[in-house]
Amino acid sequence: MQEWLNYFEHNRVNRLFIPWEEGANIEAHLRRPLIRSLRRFQVGESGEGRKLRRHAAQTGDPVYARAIELFVREEQEHARLMGELLRRLGAPLLRRHWSSDCFKWMRRACGLRVELLVLLLPEMIAKCYFRVLHDATRYSVPRAIFAQILHDENGHVAFHVEYLRRAFEGLSFTRRIAIQVAWRLVYRATCAVMIADHGPVLRACGMSLKRFWNDCGRVFDETAAGIFSPATVLAPAPILQLVKS
Ligand SMILES: [Fe+2]
Ligand SMILES: [Fe+2]
Repeated sequence: MQEWLNYFEHNRVNRLFIPWEEGANIEAHLRRPLIRSLRRFQVGESGEGRKLRRHAAQTGDPVYARAIELFVREEQEHARLMGELLRRLGAPLLRRHWSSDCFKWMRRACGLRVELLVLLLPEMIAKCYFRVLHDATRYSVPRAIFAQILHDENGHVAFHVEYLRRAFEGLSFTRRIAIQVAWRLVYRATCAVMIADHGPVLRACGMSLKRFWNDCGRVFDETAAGIFSPATVLAPAPILQLVKS
């Protein structure tokens, strides 16, 4: 886990430059659906991760606990960036939304391993979502924000995969398959709800809902292979290979 702590410490100070002075512009056809969709993502990333931090501390591994601390701060930084963009686009922030309440409720009911599996549901979708947003705009400010978040989300997924791979190592083949099947079902249900809710922005970005569904499926397959197939190791998150804006 030391390598992940190094990664988060490096990532904390090596951020993409956001050229705020250029103004927070967005294509006219994206403005309305983007605001609606981003407000929901923003509220989902603004939590303090108290329970996750407590669980991480209980593992007795101070390096992992510190890495989780930095991970939570990165999510808060995403909320700050999206919040700043929304404010500059003239949109008020949401205080809460049923979708993030739902994830919080699911995570509350369990231990660290299941909490991480639940946490990974929106993280995997975010890898596809921020890619779509990034590719749909030509304006520097949202492009830089989405590129940074996308980069961080790739790191988050790989970080949690690494922990879960070790955590599930001792389980029998049958239990691993059962967990994987149940996790896939919950994930696909989450994708369906997300696509129904955020469909307007995906379509405005020129992304077909079917393609988005398939992309989310591919991310799941990679992630699940990283956790449950010992031979597959997800590449560590690239430190400086940010998407060019
Ligand atoms: Fe995030
Ligand atoms: Fe994340």
